[in-house]
Amino acid sequence: MSHTTTHDPSVVFDRAASYYDRTRTESPEIATALTNMLIEQGALSEMMRVLEVGVGTGRITIPLLRRGINVIGVDMSLPMMRVMRAKQPDATVAQANATQLPFRAESAHAVILSHVLHLIAGWERALYEVQRVLKPGGKLLHCWQEHNSESAGQVIISKFFELVRAHGGGTERPGVRDRQTLIDFGQRQGWQSQTIEVAIWASKEPLSTLVERFRLRQWSSTWQIADDVFAKALLEWERWLKETYGNDDQPLPHERRIMLDVVLPQRA
Ligand SMILES: C[S@@+](CC[C@H](N)C(=O)[O-])C[C@H]1O[C@@H](n2cnc3c(N)ncnc32)[C@H](O)[C@@H]1O
Repeated sequence: MSHTTTHDPSVVFDRAASYYDRTRTESPEIATALTNMLIEQGALSEMMRVLEVGVGTGRITIPLLRRGINVIGVDMSLPMMRVMRAKQPDATVAQANATQLPFRAESAHAVILSHVLHLIAGWERALYEVQRVLKPGGKLLHCWQEHNSESAGQVIISKFFELVRAHGGGTERPGVRDRQTLIDFGQRQGWQSQTIEVAIWASKEPLSTLVERFRLRQWSSTWQIADDVFAKALLEWERWLKETYGNDDQPLPHERRIMLDVVLPQRA
């Protein structure tokens, strides 16, 4: 099953457009805390030109637009950006690959990347593109989440991927593999960076909702798994869940930390 375009192996979210927003369950307070932090750390103001690369349905950009910040959204997925424009008709978007941004050098005051670097084939090139389009002194604002591996929701998710690997399935995505790889890359470039914890929150979805998301393969982490491997892992996982939880459809805490890297890419 192919879930990417024929031209580029990045994980493009066309298939997720209709349900993506329902998978993002943080509270309005948490969303506002992130918007405030982006404005503060990027020193964003109405006069600036900001880009969000991998804008999706505008979860990050729309609140900034509503605060008067001029953000242009870039994504490979037209269906995702159509959802964004349905919510915010005056939003400006461009369909493009992060590895080839359609903007002049030194034309952006800040660039936002949120939950996307693990999906981009050629993520290093995407970061060089960010460096190219940023004005001198412009910041890269990189949003990501850290999952508490001991919280019940994450334990269950990890169990699923353990079963996938046991059946020989691949769980790797084409972008940056892990946090350390990203840190090492920045250090090799001599980029200055500071990491900030924006908020801690725990989603508490019932077990049945989590299982349904997996059955429907809503998470992009399940898209690259071969269909036969996915079916076997799902069967064994559901058996294990039944043994462990019985019929108890309890809300499962899944704790995450919302993190922000504020990066000043140095020019050579
Ligand atoms: C997980 S969503 C994140 C959306 C939004 N930034 C957010 O935080 O809600 C990742 C988005 O990146 C897009 N994407 C993946 N690879 C890309 C690439 N190489 N260039 C541009 N966009 C890409 C996907 O189509 C998807 O809309």
